Amino acid sequence: MTISTIAKLEDFLAQQLLSPQGYAQYGSGDVSKSELTPFVTELRKISQAYVAHEVGARLSSPINGTTAAEAYALYYTIINAAKIAHLFPLMSFNTPSISMLDVGCGPGTAALALLAAGSKSLDLTCVEHSAAMRSVAERLLSKWKGEAVVSRMRIKASLNVISQGSFDLVVAGNMLAELEEEESLRTLRALISRVSEGGYLLLLEPGQQLHSRRLMALRDRVCVEYPDLVPQFPCLRDDACPMLASSSTDWCHGTIEWRQPKLNAQFDDLLSFNKHRIKYSAFLFQRGGSLKDGVRVISAPSKERAGIETLLCGKDLYGIARIRKGARSELNRPLEKASVFDRLMVSSPCTGNLPEDVEVVAAPNS
Ligand SMILES: C[S@@+](CC[C@H](N)C(=O)[O-])C[C@H]1O[C@@H](n2cnc3c(N)ncnc32)[C@H](O)[C@@H]1O
Repeated sequence: MTISTIAKLEDFLAQQLLSPQGYAQYGSGDVSKSELTPFVTELRKISQAYVAHEVGARLSSPINGTTAAEAYALYYTIINAAKIAHLFPLMSFNTPSISMLDVGCGPGTAALALLAAGSKSLDLTCVEHSAAMRSVAERLLSKWKGEAVVSRMRIKASLNVISQGSFDLVVAGNMLAELEEEESLRTLRALISRVSEGGYLLLLEPGQQLHSRRLMALRDRVCVEYPDLVPQFPCLRDDACPMLASSSTDWCHGTIEWRQPKLNAQFDDLLSFNKHRIKYSAFLFQRGGSLKDGVRVISAPSKERAGIETLLCGKDLYGIARIRKGARSELNRPLEKASVFDRLMVSSPCTGNLPEDVEVVAAPNS
């Protein structure tokens, strides 16, 4: 994700959703408080509903009008699009245009992320329950102008009305979290049935412990029920998640360091929120794909008494790798420098105390 991807998207959203005066202010500095107050009021309500929502129960959507949908687009869409743009390079498509199904699309978040990232053009199918969200999505996506374009678009209220057909990319972003258990599983199965051969399924959920652990459990179900859907990220294995099995609190998640765009930062100031860094949990599968080699860094390397330690996960492997003080070397330095979710190629052994001569190499396009 380049800095300009998200800055470009925020600029577009500000242009479409603020008044002409508000957008002029945005161009030269802070937007006036009076312009932002209606959005801030809605964002407060939306955030309160998300916080109060009991994980595993159905969320009664707090987005019930145009201003709420626009507020969501101005604040949350930027954050969620940053996550999708960050994950997009993990996928590869051979066709000049990507057919994408985005279920629970909100204001068109996933499509906007891909368009801003300047990817290929999109043959887009969106599904969204909320009429207000659908209308904002339609307004935004029909106005987008850039290198990548929407070649065809349909936005529907329910997946049931989308005639059979499969897609290169199926996305459910922060949507399964709003459903109760049985419904989320039923919806997930319906989404899976729409992934084409070689196509991808991207599940993204709020970067919070309970949502993330629920998503990890869904990932386990997918691996058992659909062996042809092969994990691509972050998992390098397709058996049960060892973190979920060995801990009742740990949650598999990453953090994106971003240059927070200015309107998003202004909303943070007005709302006393803090999105300087964004946590996310996501799983990417490919139908008919292959598992990737190596090991995934699950916790950032930290200096402990016994040496530098990091949690690694890979095929048949889950545990702490440690570089003792006397064993630090140029060869194993990439482990010390690794970030969460980096994929590393490590000459064995991978867990326990690593010898000085173990070689660690970062894998490209992880
Ligand atoms: C938190 S928003 C996420 C929007 C967007 N995907 C994003 O990541 O920014 C979740 C959206 O999913 C929609 N939704 C929930 N369940 C749905 C379903 N079964 N079918 C279609 N839309 C659904 C809600 O109306 C809401 O707009």
